[in-house]
Amino acid sequence: MPSPELQRYSRPAVLFHWVIVILIATAYLAIEVRGPKGSDSRAFWTAVHFWAGSLVLTVAVLRLVWRLWRQPPDEIESPAVLQFLARLVHLALYLFIFVQPLLGILMINTGGHPVTLAGLNVDITLVGADPTARKLIHGAHVLIGNAFYWVIGVHALAAIGHHVVLRDQTLRRMM
Ligand code: HEM
Ligand code: HEM
Repeated sequence: MPSPELQRYSRPAVLFHWVIVILIATAYLAIEVRGPKGSDSRAFWTAVHFWAGSLVLTVAVLRLVWRLWRQPPDEIESPAVLQFLARLVHLALYLFIFVQPLLGILMINTGGHPVTLAGLNVDITLVGADPTARKLIHGAHVLIGNAFYWVIGVHALAAIGHHVVLRDQTLRRMM
C-alpha cells in the first residue's frame, strides 16, 4: 500500500510560524542583553525589543487571518490527552503573540509616552497616561514574558520529541 501523502501546513502558515519564532527569540534576547539603565547598549536593545515585539503583533494578525482562510492539516493520530494538551498549548501561544506585544505597547502608553520605532516616523498611542494601570500592565508583561519561556520550551520539546522519539511527521509538516 502506498504511504499516505504527508499533509503539511501551507507555505504561508509555515513562514508565519518561523518568522514569529525568530522575532520572539530576538525580543527575548534584546531584553536579556540590554545592559544597565542609561547606557547606549540599553537604548539600542530596547529599540530592538520594540521593533521585534511590534512586528510579532503585525505578523500575528496576518497569521490569524491566514489560519481562518486556510484550514491547518488534520491532527496527527495520538492519544486524546496529548491532543488536548497540544491544542491547549497552541491556543496559549496564539493568545501570547497578540497579548504580550499589546501589553508592551500599553505599558509604554500608560507611562505617558508613545511607542516609537527607531528609523520609522511613527508614534503608536493606543491609550493615555495612567500610572495605576501602568503598574498592573508592567507586572503582567513581565509575568507573562517569564512564564512563556516555559510554555515555548514545552512546545519546542514536544515538537522535537515527536520527531526524535515518536518519529512521526509533526515537525516535518511545519517545515
Ligand atoms: C512577543 C513580544 C514580546 C515579548 C516576548 C516580550 C518579553 C519581555 C520580557 C521577557 C521582558 C523582561 C521582563 C523582566 O524584566 O523580567 C520585557 C520587558 C519589556 N518589554 Fe517586552 N516583550 C514583547 C513585546 C514588547 C513590546 C511590543 C513592547 C513595547 C513596544 C515591549 C516593551 C517592554 C518594556 C518597556 C520592557 C521593560 C520593562 C522594565 O524594564 O521594567 N515589549 N518584555
Ligand atoms: C517561539 C515561539 C513559538 C510560538 C509562538 C509557536 C506557536 C505555534 C502555534 C500557535 C502553533 C499551532 C499552529 C496552528 O495550528 O495553526 C504551532 C505549531 C507548531 N510548532 Fe510552534 N511555536 C513556537 C516555537 C516553536 C519551536 C521552537 C518549534 C520547534 C522546535 C515549533 C514547532 C512547531 C510544530 C512542529 C508545530 C505543528 C504542531 C502540529 O502539527 O500539531 N514551534 N506553533
